[in-house]
Amino acid sequence: MSDIRINPSILSADFVNMQADLDRIATADFVHVDVMDNHFVPNLTFGPQMVQRIQETSPVPLDVHLMIDDAERWAPGYAELGAASVTFHLEAATDPIALARTLRGIGARAGVAIKPGTPAEGLYDVLDEFDQILVMTVEPGFGGQSFMTSAMPKLSALAAEARRRGSSVWLQVDGGIGESTIAQAAEAGADTFVAGSAVFGADDPARAIEALRNGAAR
Ligand code: DX5
Ligand code: ZN
Repeated sequence: MSDIRINPSILSADFVNMQADLDRIATADFVHVDVMDNHFVPNLTFGPQMVQRIQETSPVPLDVHLMIDDAERWAPGYAELGAASVTFHLEAATDPIALARTLRGIGARAGVAIKPGTPAEGLYDVLDEFDQILVMTVEPGFGGQSFMTSAMPKLSALAAEARRRGSSVWLQVDGGIGESTIAQAAEAGADTFVAGSAVFGADDPARAIEALRNGAAR
């Protein structure tokens, strides 16, 4: 696996042809699975049963992004079903460090996500508790929104802080990532890129993944 990771988001896949769409992204590093509860975000997707089936049939490991309230209650179940990484929102957890330790204890990579309006400074002292940090580059809830350049200073600051502390935490971006935006996110320090519409909206998702990889490496 290279230092750059491309994680297509199945939010933009065909929900009734999921197996076929999973097979079309077999060259991806992870499949990004957006779980939404219609409370934390104004949209609803699927829960553990669906994710369990995706886990059983996907050729690539799962990167689960929980956009749900009450992260403590639900996140461990996604680690238990075998997801490679489970990311919860900082805004939706009461004890993020304890939850990260629980997820790691089960064997998943622990991730924490922050919305565009949430500062990153609170994470600086606890970087070691996480395997990945997700900086949202849109307001969470929907695919196909425009990339928010305004998130880049926060990303650069996190990257600098991680370097300063010798941390190997992955820095992930999610929202509006495509061929025209991925380079600036990479420049700011992201190494893990979620892309929904840019991959599944393309005629050839495998080529879109390759183009994103090249765009991030430049
Ligand atoms: C949005 C989700 C994203 C979404 C990204 O809240 O977290 O993962 O699928 O979609 P695009 O890449 O189309 O912005
Ligand atoms: Zn997501």
